[in-house]
Amino acid sequence: MKYHPFVMERWQSTYEHRVRFNLSESGVHPLLVSELLSLADLGPDTLDVRLGYGQSNGSDELRNLIADLYHGATEASVLVTVGGAEANFTAFWELMEPGASVAVMLPNYMQVPGLLESFGGHIHPFHLVEEKGWQPDLNELEKGLKEGARFILITNPNNPTGAVLDDTSMSGIVTLADRYGAWILADEVYRGAELSGPETPSFWGLHDRVLVTNSLSKAYGLPGLRIGWIVGPAKMAESLWGRTDYTTITPASLSDVLARVALEPTTRLKILARTREILTNNLALLTSWMDAREDQFRYRPPDAGAICYTRYHKSINSTEFAETLRTEQDLLVVPGDHFGMDHYLRFGFGLPADELEEALERLAGAFDTVEDRSANA
Ligand SMILES: Cc1ncc(COP(=O)(O)O)c(C=O)c1O
Repeated sequence: MKYHPFVMERWQSTYEHRVRFNLSESGVHPLLVSELLSLADLGPDTLDVRLGYGQSNGSDELRNLIADLYHGATEASVLVTVGGAEANFTAFWELMEPGASVAVMLPNYMQVPGLLESFGGHIHPFHLVEEKGWQPDLNELEKGLKEGARFILITNPNNPTGAVLDDTSMSGIVTLADRYGAWILADEVYRGAELSGPETPSFWGLHDRVLVTNSLSKAYGLPGLRIGWIVGPAKMAESLWGRTDYTTITPASLSDVLARVALEPTTRLKILARTREILTNNLALLTSWMDAREDQFRYRPPDAGAICYTRYHKSINSTEFAETLRTEQDLLVVPGDHFGMDHYLRFGFGLPADELEEALERLAGAFDTVEDRSANA
């Protein structure tokens, strides 16, 4: 088997704790355990958990709380995993066959595409079109399905664009999946992190061949719990569970308890309100900073997630630019190259507002002085 590096995660894993300003993260500033307990009106004795192996597909209570978020789902439709990452890996393993091809929305979080490259699969890209507000080219999707794509990989809300699929795009995808008998693997980790408006609708329930993945890492600000999940048809959930015997066996028992705290309906709403407040305040800081330099950027404000995907008008390559920001400004961003799109940068804006303001000052200096290679060419 080949190993195809997951370039963005390598970049973050290597540097995110070694820079002063981390603008590579796509979720909001994480909660402290004490903050979570206080939102839930619980005391520290909640943490007095027996550290045995937990129920390995997630406790019944946690699976019920998750099922309640999906119309018509029951705890039998849910598998709890170690983060969205294990959810995606397990779902990929379930749906994949040797040499199979997959229709992949691009740009995207490149975990499943990287796995496809590693395991000898074929990618049929279908692109989100910037001029159409990052909505997908459904003709391209149909072409991939005609050529035999077995499942459709979607991230909605999308990473890196922060765009949410509109109703026409969603129903178009479902119609095509139905017509060609394809599965939909919908990564919905940014669901609940909308800047305004209602929660993004889930693909769950729109088609009988859907696996939805999600986690507490982004909208809930709890990535350190490493709790994610897959929702799928009950028979499939059983088969997915068997696969995690080979990966992590079971989520951490302390995390299962704290995930139940976070998903208790009243606490959940308080957490999502906190997320929305951080996103709204911080996006205003970022966009006013960019708008003051409108000759330097083009961007569409995200619908969801603490990420803003921008096209910058400098000739410097995006990886080189990000490396300069890291080494000279102690600041980490994600270069568009990690999504196969040079001259874009993904700015994460979920950090504390004072840190974001300081980071933007540094960025301003870097933007004003970065060598404009086209000018010098
Ligand atoms: C779209 C998407 N899916 C999954 C993940 C992984 O999530 P987790 O931290 O819950 O494993 C990320 C992390 O950035 C992501 O952006």
